[in-house]
Amino acid sequence: MNPVQLKPRQADMKPVGRGPRLWAVGGGKGGVGKSIVALNLAYWIARLGHRVVLVDADLGGANLHTLLGIKFVHHTLADYLDRKISSLDKIAIDTPIPGLRLICGASDIVGLANPQYARKVRLMRALEELDVEHMILDLGAGTDFNTLDFFLLCTYKIAVISPQPTSLQNGYGFIKSALYRAINREFSRNTRLTPLIRRSSDPNTDNPIATLDDLVKHFADVDRVYSDRLQEILDTFNLFIINSMIRRPKDRRSADIIRTVCQKYLGLKQVTTLGSIPFDPQIDDCVNRMSPAFITNSGSVSAPEFYSLVNTIIRREEKPPPLPGKPTPLPEKPAMADGELPG
Ligand SMILES: Nc1ncnc2c1ncn2[C@@H]1O[C@H](COP(=O)(O)OP(=O)(O)OP(=O)(O)O)[C@@H](O)[C@H]1O
Ligand SMILES: [Mg+2]
Repeated sequence: MNPVQLKPRQADMKPVGRGPRLWAVGGGKGGVGKSIVALNLAYWIARLGHRVVLVDADLGGANLHTLLGIKFVHHTLADYLDRKISSLDKIAIDTPIPGLRLICGASDIVGLANPQYARKVRLMRALEELDVEHMILDLGAGTDFNTLDFFLLCTYKIAVISPQPTSLQNGYGFIKSALYRAINREFSRNTRLTPLIRRSSDPNTDNPIATLDDLVKHFADVDRVYSDRLQEILDTFNLFIINSMIRRPKDRRSADIIRTVCQKYLGLKQVTTLGSIPFDPQIDDCVNRMSPAFITNSGSVSAPEFYSLVNTIIRREEKPPPLPGKPTPLPEKPAMADGELPG
């Protein structure tokens, strides 16, 4: 009997890998600090001397430009997605922070920019062409296909969670939805596999399949080609967790909880806790006053955490993992002046 042939893996299904490092910041629940995290990651990566583009990929409620103190936005991602502007370079604007450019999203455009999958892939390819080293996509809340697809198309997937139980639930739900979106896109035309996927994604079905590791075994019963492909999807799902707005030491455990359930039920082996960002009253205060000062305020309680987190990211990318033992010392205070953004 001939072995089962799978179509070669389509280019558009692979995360985009060449060019800049693509980071997606998502997490399901609204208001957990995704945009603050995306902004600070971009800021610190730029401060370390890298060229960065921050992309406001929240197509329903873009607000990064406001957080950066930019009042008037002439062109947005929606203009590109709706083919009104052909070049992303014309949309990426300079910010007051050297090395950091911003591609604005647009609020009030729900329904206007509802791109087909192919157009999202085209966008990601175009982003790759920009002359930068890091690209950070700030995603909106929820699990709509746009959000999930942008998350999946980035090589490095960051889920931001806050310590509330609802945030943990939503965070896990978001990661699970993203994974099943990837699995369904890959196998949904195969009528032998779809009932198995359904049994694993919906615990209320008859005879549920409890974990994705079990689903891999069921796929292997159909054909090893499918189980190998599913295993590949699980193995290349590079997930990072950031705890946001923590107030007590025990809040740091949230990421470990998510990591454990992702490993146990979703078969994800590569889940890394990137760090924990404290609740920072200065951030909250500045955002309420619509002042961007919190970004450059190195005296804030969150700045050293963001700085250390970005160091971890950059080290991962550029050097082999450090030997275990003495941790890299963190400067008491990042060397920079406090205060308002220039200009
Ligand atoms: N580390 C922090 N410390 C204190 N307040 C914070 C912190 N992070 C975020 N906030 C507050 O929470 C609010 C929501 O944060 P943010 O806009 O980043 O959430 P979000 O997850 O991006 O929300 P949405 O899903 O609506 O886009 C901010 O306006 C700010 O007031
Ligand atoms: Mg946001």
